[in-house]
Amino acid sequence: MYALSAIIDNLNNNEVLVDLLEKNAVSHAKRRVPEKAYWDLKATVLELLQAGLGSKFTKEIREAWDKTLTVAMTVIVKALKENQSQ
Ligand code: HEM
Repeated sequence: MYALSAIIDNLNNNEVLVDLLEKNAVSHAKRRVPEKAYWDLKATVLELLQAGLGSKFTKEIREAWDKTLTVAMTVIVKALKENQSQ
């Protein structure tokens, strides 16, 4: 959970955030985690937020989370592909 809280603590610190996401990709590439697992995780997080927040999870909030998760997963997946053969 340290990695996840470090990611959340650095949401406003782009340089550190990208570094943490790339490190996550390197450690998971070694474990053969496929790209699809990250996109499945994104869909699961959105479902979890919907289930937990109900009507408070408005269209605007959903779109903001969708964009944020897409950016994070795109950074991870790019680094994952670059490290997949190692
Ligand atoms: C942004 C999303 C994710 C975060 C923050 C995260 C975080 C972590 C952390 C902190 C660890 C342990 C230490 C390390 O980095 O090596 C870990 C291990 C692991 N993660 Fe993830 N992870 C993520 C996504 C995923 C996905 C999508 C999968 C695939 C289903 C996955 C599968 C695993 C596996 C198999 C381990 C090793 C578990 C073990 O050795 O017991 N992770 N993850």
